[in-house]
Amino acid sequence: MKKLFIKTYGCQMNFYDSDHMSNLLNDHGYETSEQIEEADLVILNTCHIRDKAAEKMYSDLGRIKKIYENNNLIKPIIAVAGCVAQAEGKEIIRRSPWVDLVVGPQAYTDLPKLIKKISKDSKEKEINLKFPEIPKFDSLNFDKKTGKVSDYVTIQEGCDKFCSFCVVPFTRGPEYSRSRKSILEEIKIMAQNGVKEVILLGQNVNAWRDNSNKSKIYNLGCLIEDISKIDEILSIRYTTSHPLDMDLDLIKAHKNVDKLMPYLHLPIQSGSDNILKKMNRKHTASEYLKIIELVRKYCADIAISSDFIVGHPGETNEDHKKTLDIINEVQFASSYSFMYSERPGTKSSELNEIVDECLKKIRLQEVQNRLNHHQLIFNKKMENLNLNILITNKNKNYQLLGRSPYNQTVYIYEQNSPVKKNDQKLIGSVLNVKIIKSNQNSLLGAF
Ligand code: SAH
Ligand code: SF4
Ligand code: F3S
Repeated sequence: MKKLFIKTYGCQMNFYDSDHMSNLLNDHGYETSEQIEEADLVILNTCHIRDKAAEKMYSDLGRIKKIYENNNLIKPIIAVAGCVAQAEGKEIIRRSPWVDLVVGPQAYTDLPKLIKKISKDSKEKEINLKFPEIPKFDSLNFDKKTGKVSDYVTIQEGCDKFCSFCVVPFTRGPEYSRSRKSILEEIKIMAQNGVKEVILLGQNVNAWRDNSNKSKIYNLGCLIEDISKIDEILSIRYTTSHPLDMDLDLIKAHKNVDKLMPYLHLPIQSGSDNILKKMNRKHTASEYLKIIELVRKYCADIAISSDFIVGHPGETNEDHKKTLDIINEVQFASSYSFMYSERPGTKSSELNEIVDECLKKIRLQEVQNRLNHHQLIFNKKMENLNLNILITNKNKNYQLLGRSPYNQTVYIYEQNSPVKKNDQKLIGSVLNVKIIKSNQNSLLGAF
């Protein structure tokens, strides 16, 4: 069998796509390998969200070229997939002529066909950036035993929101919801293959709708309820939500569906209305706070997390202070924060009042300090609690690993007898774990 090496950058949706590219190519004579040196086919599944992510791909392409040249290896087929592929297309081949194949995030089901063409004539280049009529999900093979206890399912892709800083509407295309039937079919197969937790993915996952029955609303809240009826599935999570799509059915699901974990990733990006307007987020800070208040009314202990961008064009000290204030107000359990990165083709890239890089760094540090402070407090609250944890894997120290209902990583050991022999069989089970200690980014528990 030929060997395939895939490297994935960016968000979880890219990881889902990489798994499915592997599955697809496994069915066409390629075995997935961790060793790039032995690969006949190398795929970089790329991310375009920030400048650094895209540049990383170009430096990796250079590194790959050196690997086969310096070791006198036969040149593998080199493919670039994902969001940089969609955004830059043949520019990638111009900058790195040793790339053979460029394929967009909606077109990768064509990979076997494209690779065959390349294999015949290595001088030929192939580019497919189409958004096909038949969605990719209809041609994926879901029936794979991955051994994973927790796994992703993409249910929604693309975005119509056009936040002025963001490339996603250009790289992933318009909002698309996969059908309820196709999603439930995939999850049932996953459940039969041992998956116990599903993480529903979408750029705006809560914009998901099934429109097959025009007379009845069937939204993410309804889907979660239906997934919870699959006996083998013990835990459900979803990400990423948009404030504008937060409806009451989803909020109520947090109260009514036991298997839905009490965690909500709801990015606000900035605490200043002035900046939210410049970002075209279409909501104010106080509207965001009202949503959080409602969510907490239905699920008091829910962990809230967010994404933040610091240093968007036009961000003043006052705007920045408002971001720090909203962090204190919401007391986020965790968050991601980034320095604004100017992206080609976006509205924000045309704005003046660019924030100085040094100032961006200082602001990022302030935002992160404030976020870390609240995360530490949130984690500390877990000490001495008994939490039900689904064991997903173990690390090399024989510690078991899982996620708390609030999405914290938990390292677990067996009290009195260090888990050494029987731990494998505990993977996939739910243990009642006592939290002994909390850290900045994880918890330590025992059972
Ligand atoms: N759909 C989600 C986010 C998807 S992108 C939402 O609307 O919240 C993931 C995160 O990357 C964003 O939330 C944002 O914080 C960050 N991001 C996107 N574009 C960026 C840019 N140009 N510079 C810095 N961070 C960016
Ligand atoms: Fe990007 Fe905004 Fe769409 Fe999120 S909602 S993917 S930030 S354009
Ligand atoms: Fe990156 Fe594309 Fe995801 S730009 S964050 S890989 S949708």
